[in-house]
Amino acid sequence: MTEMRDVRHGLSLCAYELRKATEAAARVLAASPAGSTETALAAMLAELDLLGLDANLLDGGTRRLGDPKHLPVWDVLADPAEGAACLTKGLTNAMACLAVAPSGSLFDPGPAFYMEKLVAPPQAVGHLDPAAPVEDRLTALARCLGKAVDDLNIFILEKPRHRDLVERVEAAGARVIRYPAGDVAGALLAAMPGSGVDALMGTGGIAEGLLAACAARVMGACFLARLDPQLATERRAVADAGLDTHAWMDLESLVRTDNVVFCATGIASGLLLDGVERQGDVWRSQSLLVGGGAGPRQMLTSWSQG
Ligand code: FBP
Repeated sequence: MTEMRDVRHGLSLCAYELRKATEAAARVLAASPAGSTETALAAMLAELDLLGLDANLLDGGTRRLGDPKHLPVWDVLADPAEGAACLTKGLTNAMACLAVAPSGSLFDPGPAFYMEKLVAPPQAVGHLDPAAPVEDRLTALARCLGKAVDDLNIFILEKPRHRDLVERVEAAGARVIRYPAGDVAGALLAAMPGSGVDALMGTGGIAEGLLAACAARVMGACFLARLDPQLATERRAVADAGLDTHAWMDLESLVRTDNVVFCATGIASGLLLDGVERQGDVWRSQSLLVGGGAGPRQMLTSWSQG
């Protein structure tokens, strides 16, 4: 009981406190853009340790955070360098991300690694058929948003697997915003009305999908996904595990609670966040906080020693 109450207390402060972990990771990578993700993750976990969360870190295996004598109460998704390919190429959008949810409340993808995602602002909830041809999805989206298809901006990762999708979106008249990496930023922008991105389409990582889905859940956005294995070994493992690659899941299946917290801190300035920067002897960083006392979303600029 005691640790439940303590942890709940932690959670009520959570978004504000948790962003110290994403800030720490962002500082490490901003100081050394080619630096190791492991070092940034260690900085993130050291901050989480200070919060005393009893949690499992879902990172392929399961790493235990907090006191191993206590039962894990939370699941943590951590990506200290989301969109790191952008960072090393000097491009934008790289950020450190973290989501915390009650233990067992997130979709378990088993051996699957990739999912196809369709993310759009709250007005689209219940109005998009993700299995419909892309032209029909664009028409339905335009109708929900009160726009013409020609006015839609669609975020799509620039990958060979998306060549046909990009051609069809452009042929339908919508504009494609292409990035080589970083579909968490794309999904967050798509989830926010008026961000300039009307939807995210295409296939990316499941871990990144679940991170963004936690934020989308709190923001009341439309987030639909299906497993979409890309590698031969992954396809075999998914088939052996009997997982359905045709069924589209909504947020009720992906994130089975509203009690989630998401934080992201910019590493390099991008469409969503300013990058962390050294100003004299302090670091200025910008973080997006979602849930956990911060409501649907808050932007926080902070200055910290380090
Ligand atoms: P990096 O952090 O390695 O740059 O990549 C992250 C990312 O672009 C995610 O945003 C996306 O979901 C996934 O990789 C796509 O994977 P892949 O690059 O293998 O297609």
